[in-house]
Amino acid sequence: MKFSVYIATSLDGFIARTDGQLDWLEGSDWSDRNEAGGADANDMGFDEFIESVDTLVMGRNTYEFVVSTGIWAYGDTRLVVQSTTLGDGTELPQHLAGKVEFVSMDPVALASKLANEGAQHVYVDGGATIQQFLRAGLIDELILTRVPVLLGSGISLFGEVNADVVLRHVSTEGFANGMVQSRYVVEWS
Ligand SMILES: NC(=O)c1ccc[n+]([C@@H]2O[C@H](COP(=O)([O-])OP(=O)(O)OC[C@H]3O[C@@H](n4cnc5c(N)ncnc54)[C@H](OP(=O)(O)O)[C@@H]3O)[C@@H](O)[C@H]2O)c1
Repeated sequence: MKFSVYIATSLDGFIARTDGQLDWLEGSDWSDRNEAGGADANDMGFDEFIESVDTLVMGRNTYEFVVSTGIWAYGDTRLVVQSTTLGDGTELPQHLAGKVEFVSMDPVALASKLANEGAQHVYVDGGATIQQFLRAGLIDELILTRVPVLLGSGISLFGEVNADVVLRHVSTEGFANGMVQSRYVVEWS
């Protein structure tokens, strides 16, 4: 079973403003701000990535943000939301009825449950959730898209780790919109 992260950060490493907003990512016209050239931005590999995933594990904050946008980019991918505050009685938007499973589990226990249920490629999303999976030594691949903006503060993608996490750089691609996407494999010792 493989665990991947596919996420966008500001150049200074934030995935959202402190209040959770992503206006810096979604609301700007990035195409005017790139002098370096690069590939056409299109979907920056997201469609291909999501097609390779069978299970999405998301933190509650990310889940609530995504639901608030009214846009669902994950098709019928199984969705598991980590939360101590949402559960079986939580009201769901119509398009997600019967598709969301709420859990509150240690990442190692959750990984074991997903493996037993046949998961093969898990997409882990949400800052706190990614950090827990990293600390548990479970993340295999990081696909990071850096957005050319400095936010100065916000929700960090990375946090404390128990020991150095060594990454092997696989590839980096610059897009015409100025975003730079790098793919890393985590080399757990
Ligand atoms: N830039 C991007 O590409 C990108 C991508 C994804 C998300 N985001 C943004 O990042 C922000 C969310 O990140 P975040 O750091 O706040 O974290 P998050 O991982 O989305 O959510 C954290 C919440 O998940 C629940 N949780 C996490 N681990 C748990 C566990 N082991 N057991 C039970 N519940 C657990 C807790 O919810 P409870 O409080 O319910 O217990 C916790 O408060 C949002 O603003 C989102 O829009 C940005």
